[in-house]
Parts: sequence; C-alpha cells; structure tokens
Amino acid sequence: MSFHAIEQAPARLNRSELAVPGSQPGMFEKAAKSDVDVIFLDLEDAVAPDEKVQARKNIIQALNDIDWGNKTMSVRINGLDTHYMYRDVVDVVEQAGERLDLIMIPKVGTAADVYAVDMMVTQIEDAMGYKKRIGFEHIIETALGMQNVSEIAAASKRNESLHFGVADYAASTRARTTIIGGVNPDYSVLTDPDGDASRATHWGDMWHYALARMVVAARANGLRPIDGPFGDFQDPEGYKAAAKRAAVLGCEGKWAIHPSQIALANEVMSPGDAEVTKAQRILEAMSEAEAAGKGAVSLDGRLIDYASIRQAEVMVEKARQIAA
Ligand code: GLV
Ligand code: MG
Repeated sequence: MSFHAIEQAPARLNRSELAVPGSQPGMFEKAAKSDVDVIFLDLEDAVAPDEKVQARKNIIQALNDIDWGNKTMSVRINGLDTHYMYRDVVDVVEQAGERLDLIMIPKVGTAADVYAVDMMVTQIEDAMGYKKRIGFEHIIETALGMQNVSEIAAASKRNESLHFGVADYAASTRARTTIIGGVNPDYSVLTDPDGDASRATHWGDMWHYALARMVVAARANGLRPIDGPFGDFQDPEGYKAAAKRAAVLGCEGKWAIHPSQIALANEVMSPGDAEVTKAQRILEAMSEAEAAGKGAVSLDGRLIDYASIRQAEVMVEKARQIAA
C-alpha cells in the first residue's frame, strides 16, 4: 500500500442522477417525488440563451420552496467561458446555498478552472456564514478535460464526483457517433478470414478508454465516477447495457435524461442481494476472527484478504444507504 492515503468524498448515494432543465419549472415537483438519488437543475445546455435569467430565478425559488426530501441537490452552472457563469454562482449560492449540496461544473478543462470556482464559492459561503460546504461534480466532456483529468480530480477538497459527458466529449474529440452514449457499428472487429465466408463482426464499445480513464482518476482521488447520458430514452435495453458496462468498470451511477431512466439506473447500480449477503458474511467472519485473536480470516474454507474486506465494507455501507 502506498504511504499516500486517499481521502474519500462524502458517501452519497449516486446511483441515478436526473437532469432537469431550469427553464421547465413544471418538471420540478415530479422530480422531487421521484426515486432518483441526485437531481441537477440545469442552467447550461438544456436552457436557451434568452431563458438563462428566468431559469436562474426558477432554480433559486425551487431550491428554497420545494420539499426535495433527502435528495442530493445540484445545479449545473454555465461554462467558465461564458458570461453567465459568474452570476449563476453568485445568485444561486447567495440566495439558495443552504439547500444546495453540489455545483456541477461543465466542460471543465484544467485544475485552474476548479480553483476559480472554488475561490468564488468560498468567498460567498464565508460572507453568508454558511456552515455547510458545497461540493463539486465535474463533467469530463472535452479533450482538454480528459487530458487533465487527474489534475482536475485532485484540484479541490470540494470535489466529490467525475461525470463522463459523452455528448460533448464526442463533439470535442470529433468522434463519429450515432446516438448519445450509444455504440457505432464502425467500431468493430471482424473475425479472421481463414476460409470462413461468413466472418462474424464483434461490436466494440467506443467509449471504453475514456470512461476507464475517468474512473481511474476519480478513484485515485476518492471521488465517485458517474456515467453520463444515454440519449435514446425509448431504448431501455440499450440504456441498461450502457449502465452495466459503466458499472463493470467501477462507475457507481448514471445520468437519467428522462424520468423513465431512473429506475433502470437504480436497478443496475444497486448491489444484488447475494452480493450484500456475501459482504455481510465476510465482515462477520472478520469480527469473529478478531474476537478470537486470530490474524487470518477465512470464510467457506477460503482465506479472505484485506482487499475483499474493504470491498465488503463499501458494499454493506451502500446497502445501508439504499435501505435508509
Ligand atoms: C453532458 O453534458 C454531455 O455532454 O454528455
Ligand atoms: Mg455536455
């Protein structure tokens, strides 16, 4: 183990994260009553330029007036290259900072971008006398952001999660995509010819490298890696396949751009009963061994190493949060 200890971000449930445009206040109540873990009220790309001011007002009012229950609340501010961003931060944090858990920073490109927003938020929180600190979620969705993903992940104590913004990432890297977060049949391999007339085609996942790279940067800095949007909300199977790929790589949540995707994300990103039971048994075996003064822990005739114990602790904590 390295001497460098990784500090973990606050353990929030983040299986599903619903995008709600700030310009559509009619959607707020329904979102508040849904089963989603995190809601981000959007000031960025889902809001047209001439609706930005009204959307900001809607969001401030909604954060203060709507009963959001125990949901984690976030606001996606505009990018640092726009003139909307400073007022997003000042107005929302000053006027609704008490109910705001997170700020989502889109198209983050460098660690200095994070520093700039951190400086602003810190000044506002101090001036307002807020006790709670607002956390940051960063969307990795440009070639620059992906190049600097490790520095971004380490840039602030407020950092909680990294999100793969596949739509803008495709635009920034000029990738040839079909649908948002979907696969492209051109990204495939053919089986060897070897006299086989019907060579099989195996489709690959063109987002694998980007997502895996982001997961490593997130985990190396104690942050939650979250997979971004899947555009075709009429294709639940496609959504679930994408969510499963992300979960296999280590992501612990996925965006929902439509309420129908919330249940799919919660299903895929929740540990199964068998996994939780196994984790509980590992922890019980560990405490029995400790009570008996034994150094080595075994279960079902197999030695359990410390990595499985840590994984078991994470699993049991997650199950506890879901049940709460
Ligand atoms: C999200 O913001 C994306 O661009 O995919
Ligand atoms: Mg985007």
